[in-house]
Amino acid sequence: MEGILFPRGVAEGREGLKEYRSRGGYEALKKILKGLSPDTVIQEISESGLRGRGGAGFPTGKKWAFTSECAEQPHYVVLNGGEDEPGSKKDRLLMENLPHLVTEGVILASYAVGAPRAYLYINAEYKGAIQSMTDALAEAKRAGYWGAHILSSDFSLEILLIPAPANYVAGEDTAALEVIENKQPLPRQKPPFPATYGLFGKPTTVNNVETLANVPPIMARGAKWYRTFGTPESPGTMIFSLDDQVNRPGIYELPFGTSLRFLIDECGGGAKGGEAIKAILPGGPSSAFLSPDKIDIPLDHNSVREAGSSIGCGVVHLITEGSCMVEETLKIADFFAAESCGQCPACRMETNMLAAMLKKVQQGQGGQPLLEQFSKVISFNKGKGFCNLINMPGPPIESALRLFRSDFEFHLANGRCPVRLTQT
Ligand SMILES: Cc1cc2nc3c(=O)[nH]c(=O)nc-3n(C[C@H](O)[C@H](O)[C@H](O)COP(=O)(O)O)c2cc1C
Repeated sequence: MEGILFPRGVAEGREGLKEYRSRGGYEALKKILKGLSPDTVIQEISESGLRGRGGAGFPTGKKWAFTSECAEQPHYVVLNGGEDEPGSKKDRLLMENLPHLVTEGVILASYAVGAPRAYLYINAEYKGAIQSMTDALAEAKRAGYWGAHILSSDFSLEILLIPAPANYVAGEDTAALEVIENKQPLPRQKPPFPATYGLFGKPTTVNNVETLANVPPIMARGAKWYRTFGTPESPGTMIFSLDDQVNRPGIYELPFGTSLRFLIDECGGGAKGGEAIKAILPGGPSSAFLSPDKIDIPLDHNSVREAGSSIGCGVVHLITEGSCMVEETLKIADFFAAESCGQCPACRMETNMLAAMLKKVQQGQGGQPLLEQFSKVISFNKGKGFCNLINMPGPPIESALRLFRSDFEFHLANGRCPVRLTQT
C-alpha cells in the first residue's frame, strides 16, 4: 500500500536532498513563495482536516490560525520531537530517514504562522535523528530553503536545534517551551495555551514531527487529494507502532479507518507465537484497554473513541492470554508514578497512590473496598494538574477493572496471579 509519508517504505534508509527533490521535495515551498499567502496555506491545511499526531488529535489548521491571528510578535514554531512514549519510534524514524520532508514541514508551518524562527526540539538520546536533521538543515540552507530571503522572497527563517531531555514529561508542549528557554522540563499551567502565549510569552505553534511531515504533501497536492486517504473526520494516514508482542514488530503507515485486525494480523503477523489476544491497548499507556472482540474496529479517532478508548500517537500494544491484568496495569501505574514530574501535588499524590493501591491488590490486600477506591481517586484528581499526565493512568486502570475484574478478584482472594497459579 502506498503511504503518504513513506513512499519508499520505512526500511530504505536516509533520503538525501537530491532524492527528496527528485520526488517533488521543496516544490510546495517554491509554490507558496511564488504567491500563496500565509492565510491561504492555513486555509488549505484546515480543509485537509489534518489533525495533530502528538496524541490529542487537535486540528492543525485551527492551531496555526490561533498563532497567526495574534498581533503580538514575534511568532515561533516548535517541532516536537521529544518522543519518549514507551514503544513509539515513529518520530525518530521520520527524522532519521526523511529529514528533508520534516524540514520542509517546519519551513511551511513557519511561513503560515508568520514565524521568523523555528526550533527543532529533539530527544537528546536520538543521536541518529539529530545527526540526520543537522545534515539536512545544512543541505537545505545551502540550497536556499531557509535563512535570509528564502528563494529570493521576503520570507526569512532561522532554524535552531535544541536537544530534549529524554523523559516523558519533557515532550509535553509547555515543558518543551521551558527547556528551550533554558529551564527545567516542567509543564506550565494552561490556559494560556502556547498558540497564543508560548515561547518567551509569544504566540507559538508546537506540532509533532509526524504532523509537520504531512504538510509538504498536502501543500504540494492539495487538501482534496489528501482527503482521498482516511475518513472524513480523520483524513490521511497515521503511523502505527507495534512492539514485540507481535511477530513482525515495527512501524506501519496506514490510512485512517484501516481495521485494527489488518494492523495486527496483516502488518504485524499476529500475536507472537500465535497466542490468543486477551486485551489490546490501542493508543499507548494512557489509552483504555479494549477486549479482543473489538479487533475489527477502524483505526480512526472517532471509531476508537466510540469503542471506549483513544488512538493516542498510534502505539498499539497487545496483551496475550496467560498475562495477568493486575500485573499489566501495575506496570502502567508504576510508569506514570515514575514519570510524574512532581510539581503538581495532586499528580504526585495520585500517580503514587494508584501504583501503591495496585501493589496492595497484587499482594491480596484491601478487599473489595479497595477496588471501589480507584475510580474515586481518579475522578477526584481529574484535571488538577498543569498537564494531562494526571489524567493518563485513569483509562487503563478503570478499563482493566471493568473488563478483567476476575483477575483483580483472584489476586484479592489468593494474593497471587491467576496465571501463575495455572502455570504451577
Ligand atoms: C506527559 C506528556 C508527554 C507528551 N509527549 C509528547 C511528545 O513526546 N511528542 C509530542 O509531539 N507530543 C507530546 N505530548 C503532546 C504535546 O503536549 C502537544 O499536544 C503536541 O506536541 C502537539 O502537537 P500536535 O498538535 O501536532 O499533535 C505530550 C503530552 C503530555 C501530557
